[in-house]
Amino acid sequence: MPGLDRDCASAAAPKRLFIKTYGCQMNVYDSERMADLLAPLGYVASDTAEGADLVVLNTCHIREKATEKVYSELGRLKAMKARARAAGGQMLLAVAGCVAQAEGAEIMARQSAVDVVVGPQSYHRLPELIARAHRAAGERLAADFAPREKFDSLGVARGATGVSAFLTVQEGCDKFCTFCVVPYTRGAEYSRPAAAIESEARALAAKGVREVTLLGQNVNAYENDDGGGLAGLIRRLAAISGLDRIRYTTSHPRDMDEALIAAHGEVESLMPYLHLPVQCGSDRVLKLMNRGHTAEHYRRIVERARAARPDLALSGDFIVGFPGERAADFEDTLSLVRDVGYASAFSFKYSRRPGTPAAAMAGQVEEVEKVDRLARLRSLIAGQQAAFNAGTVGRTAPVLFEKPGRRDGQVTGRSPWLQAVHCEAPASLIGAIAPVEIIGASPGSLSGRLARERA
Ligand code: 5AD
Ligand code: SF4
Repeated sequence: MPGLDRDCASAAAPKRLFIKTYGCQMNVYDSERMADLLAPLGYVASDTAEGADLVVLNTCHIREKATEKVYSELGRLKAMKARARAAGGQMLLAVAGCVAQAEGAEIMARQSAVDVVVGPQSYHRLPELIARAHRAAGERLAADFAPREKFDSLGVARGATGVSAFLTVQEGCDKFCTFCVVPYTRGAEYSRPAAAIESEARALAAKGVREVTLLGQNVNAYENDDGGGLAGLIRRLAAISGLDRIRYTTSHPRDMDEALIAAHGEVESLMPYLHLPVQCGSDRVLKLMNRGHTAEHYRRIVERARAARPDLALSGDFIVGFPGERAADFEDTLSLVRDVGYASAFSFKYSRRPGTPAAAMAGQVEEVEKVDRLARLRSLIAGQQAAFNAGTVGRTAPVLFEKPGRRDGQVTGRSPWLQAVHCEAPASLIGAIAPVEIIGASPGSLSGRLARERA
């Protein structure tokens, strides 16, 4: 992985966690669960509040006296927190349990030192809330996730060539999908200044790069310092001479705004290809995933994007066997795939990542079920990909030639829709865009011959 693929697991010292438990046996059990949930974020149990990096009061609301005890304890901890800060350290303060459930807003109002309030119904969100509190304090969590986490990537399926290059414009993620480690490992969303990106793009173009793929974990959340968002950045880069093709990956449906959709219809060098992960077609599961969109919302985005650019090729990411996914939910995913019609897509079995909220959810799906659903989804997608490729046969399309082909006398390039195209052509065409008549298609690539006329 270029650009963003640095090792994200850090060897930072463990953080100390002190949980004070009030009340019933249920709270004792919950405190253990909270400690388990926080362990992957680097927290180890400590038996005193003094010197702890995070103090959780797991409270009890059964009597008024119990509640008042919590407020007086918070007063004591506030002073401790101030001492920690004066010594250059940091102490986060969280209130959990029944008082948090009953008087969440009041706690925050009465005691400003509290960073997080979390009721028993929301313990699965504890990792997210703690990660957000760290961010608010200007600190990044050194989470204990495996380095180069398999899913902690952008789904970039090919390496950069001298002709085509990746350009990082954005990092991090604020979405906190409940299955995903990225918000913990990569931190908050950050966009690079547009001027720096533009000068890098100009330097790439001067070196002979004809195509850039703008990269970001949530690339369409890009916020331009001049206010233009990703669409504005694309228009700015489109003005660079020699840069004939622009792509971007990977996007979130929530950040797919009108300006970006319009750019697909108006910016000639923006390629007709959109990688827009949806993960699942069931609203119930999308909610459990904390995706912040429905299947209908996704369908409408696809419709609008296709209205702007009728030949747009769609790609996506899918997860099967998310906790709580029933057979009917999976059928909803298949329907969505049928409705959208993908040119290609990545699909994964849900993998339980300790420290993410979904790992602690009930209703984990059996492996055999996951395997079965994945096979069914993949076969549907493979059929769509084959049909998409076959549909280009007979057409003439501009191909950007990137490298020598597998066979002698062949050169390999990419169509606007990101298909690999193998073509009998002189090596001198590498770095050029030439019209190619597509004469054959396989599931994974196309073959073509140089066309006489311009595509
Ligand atoms: N299990 C399975 N798939 C995952 N992804 C991210 N986290 C998980 C997980 N825990 C997938 C999503 C995402 C892609 C990069 O990886 O589909 O879009
Ligand atoms: Fe992970 Fe969701 Fe962020 Fe994508 S949007 S990086 S899946 S949390």
